[in-house]
Amino acid sequence: MRSRHASALLALFVLGAAPAIADTALLPGNAEQGKKLHAANCTGCHDAAVYTRKNRRVNSIGGLVAQVQACNRQLKKGLSHDQVNDLIAYLNETYYKFE
Ligand code: HEC
Repeated sequence: MRSRHASALLALFVLGAAPAIADTALLPGNAEQGKKLHAANCTGCHDAAVYTRKNRRVNSIGGLVAQVQACNRQLKKGLSHDQVNDLIAYLNETYYKFE
């Protein structure tokens, strides 16, 4: 079982070294839900073109998390933590594709 422990430690090290979320396969949100939430809440100020424009601002999964949280605050509908996670999963799967 020694090698198992070693790889578990290695995984911890890799996760610890990366910002916030290291593996987007671990994103907790539901992209299907996020798609609906997005259509209902997120197209008032900008459309989806901001996610694909050349000079887009979000360049990492940590940046995406922060931006969705910031937009949610501005939205003032108080989407829940789970709903924000759904939106992040949807945007990452559909547009950003961070790994
Ligand atoms: C109150 C207006 C407003 C609402 C509502 C809003 N946003 Fe935004 N959002 C902005 C602004 C302003 C920017 C920055 C645009 C720019 O830099 O040109 C932005 C940018 C973004 C970006 C970054 C795009 C990039 O350049 O990579 C993401 C992601 C995003 N919004 C997600 C969302 C989501 C998800 C929602 C729904 C919860 C939402 N926004 C609702 C105002 C809003």
